[in-house]
Amino acid sequence: MVNSLEVLLLGLFASPTWATYIEPYRPQYHFSPAQNWMNDPTGLLYHNELYHLFFQYNPGGIVWGNMSWGHATSKDLSHWEEQPIALLARGFPDNITEMFFTGSAVADVKNTSGLGTDGKIPLVALYTSNYPVTQTLPSGKTVKANQQSQSIAYSLDDGLTWQTYDSANPVIHYPPTPYEDQYQNFRDPFVFWHEQTHKWVLVTALSEIHKLIIWTSDNLKEWSVVSEFGPFNAVGGVWECPNLFPLPLDGGQTDTKWIMVVGLNPGGPPETVGSGTQYFIGGFNGTTFIPDDDDVYPGNSTANWMDWGPDFYAAASYNGLPDAEHVSIGWMNNWQYGGIIPTYPWRSAMATPRHLSLRTIGGKVTLVQQPKENWASIETQKKYSRTWKSVAEGTEDLGSRGKTLDIELSFDDRQQASGVSEFGVIVQATADKKQQTRVGYDFQARKVFLDRTLSGDVSFDKTFASVYHAPLEPSADGVVRLRILVDWSSVEVFGGQGESTLTAQIFPSEKATYAKLFSSGGSTENVQLGISDLSSIWQ
Ligand SMILES: *[C@@H]1O[C@H](CO)[C@@H](O)[C@H](O)[C@H]1NC(C)=O
Ligand SMILES: *[C@@H]1O[C@H](CO)[C@@H](O)[C@H](O)[C@H]1NC(C)=O
Ligand SMILES: *[C@@H]1O[C@H](CO)[C@@H](O)[C@H](O)[C@H]1NC(C)=O
Ligand SMILES: *[C@@H]1O[C@H](CO)[C@@H](O)[C@H](O)[C@H]1NC(C)=O
Ligand SMILES: *[C@@H]1O[C@H](CO)[C@@H](O)[C@H](O)[C@H]1NC(C)=O
Repeated sequence: MVNSLEVLLLGLFASPTWATYIEPYRPQYHFSPAQNWMNDPTGLLYHNELYHLFFQYNPGGIVWGNMSWGHATSKDLSHWEEQPIALLARGFPDNITEMFFTGSAVADVKNTSGLGTDGKIPLVALYTSNYPVTQTLPSGKTVKANQQSQSIAYSLDDGLTWQTYDSANPVIHYPPTPYEDQYQNFRDPFVFWHEQTHKWVLVTALSEIHKLIIWTSDNLKEWSVVSEFGPFNAVGGVWECPNLFPLPLDGGQTDTKWIMVVGLNPGGPPETVGSGTQYFIGGFNGTTFIPDDDDVYPGNSTANWMDWGPDFYAAASYNGLPDAEHVSIGWMNNWQYGGIIPTYPWRSAMATPRHLSLRTIGGKVTLVQQPKENWASIETQKKYSRTWKSVAEGTEDLGSRGKTLDIELSFDDRQQASGVSEFGVIVQATADKKQQTRVGYDFQARKVFLDRTLSGDVSFDKTFASVYHAPLEPSADGVVRLRILVDWSSVEVFGGQGESTLTAQIFPSEKATYAKLFSSGGSTENVQLGISDLSSIWQ
């Protein structure tokens, strides 16, 4: 039950009264909360033609704390409307007894939970209860200080308001035997319906020991352990925020593979410091996820990285969409410096939603990601397209192009590259080029890179001014293709068909509107460039 004080607080803390969405560094076409701290996307659910985005949120501050579920909705994954807080930390603001950590949500259309009433389909969220203090709960269950358990909340008004299921919470009290001692690092339930076995499946993380536990249930309330997974591949930090989902291979109707996504903090991709996201491709039969043989590496730091940049974490999947339309959203920040990025009155944005698919590329089953957007309504008339038979060694000025750009760039591979051999585009540069962010291709290393060493304010963290690389082979016809999304404080790069991605925050001056091409180690042939200028989703 929500009491009247909570209703008052919900109103106070949810209303975006003083955000203008034109503050310095404010993302113009990415979601950010009007004010305060945000981290993981959580409970992503497509229901009744609306995309729900819940998120880890501090209603009382601009750093992590008071963890609650914030809420935003969208009809098109591009325009977002912030909604009242869905789950407010219990006891907020001065006597917190339960925080609502990351989880997931489903529409229980068959009412398996029995939580529906009056013909209303229950939406059911599974979340981690984090209990700061030892206490006995209304269900009679006792929890210890800093315990993490899994609980249920449900909504009977299509996701606007939520009730915690206090008569039984937490529905998963402790990790299974023999891992009970991990009760302070047991979190992030990801739930989905498994049609073949007619059961709900839940994946939870035992973060410190790099294990995922898989559970099944008939009713979302009573859960049985069916298998465990890990440790495999990268284990340089805690494992968190698992997701498990099927994707059709090469768009086919017959061959489906399963993807397990796992957040890692720290221990992210090479060249990054802090958090990152790895994935496994394999098979799942309703109880057990088995990674493909060529997908598990010896040693414990190699991995399939979902994104090779520093600012893509806690990627979460939408429930309620067909497998072929899978969408995932990542938190566009990093635990290394997330709490000190120079933004105000909010901290953190979500990365552009991504459509995920599986394609065979170079003989290997590969996760392919593309921006899932609908920006037609915010594209301005200021479109810029040019082609060059050859761009000579040096730079090619593109003038002042703005700070919110959707860029498509393609060019020929260089057959015999040696030494410094690069081509790409400089964005968010000041007129004197003292500030600039470089995105390009290293022909010799066969990698796409993102260089934010001179990107603007890099002073707040000593690891921030860095260069990041992702492996990328040119297409079979010898062309390198890059799509680059630029916003006031971020750059996202999708290489090739989307098999390599790089996401990074940048904090450039307001005057950093200039763009340039650069070609080093020789000329670059058959260059095609298209730049769409985007306006704000908030105005
Ligand atoms: C939690 O919220 C309270 C009330 O607004 C605030 O005083 C406190 O600073 C917040 N904690 C954090 C860590 O932001
Ligand atoms: C904090 O909340 C708990 C649970 O509602 C209550 O038992 C306790 O008395 C409260 N403490 C204070 C200082 O208000
Ligand atoms: C869901 O199940 C409960 C418990 O059996 C029942 O009271 C309710 O009417 C059902 N709701 C719907 C929409 O079927
Ligand atoms: C799934 O695979 C595991 C491991 O091979 C096996 O033990 C289990 O019985 C299978 N479950 C089903 C439902 O087929
Ligand atoms: C993983 O690598 C780290 C760092 O090299 C090492 O300390 C650790 O023992 C390794 N763990 C396993 C399970 O191999």
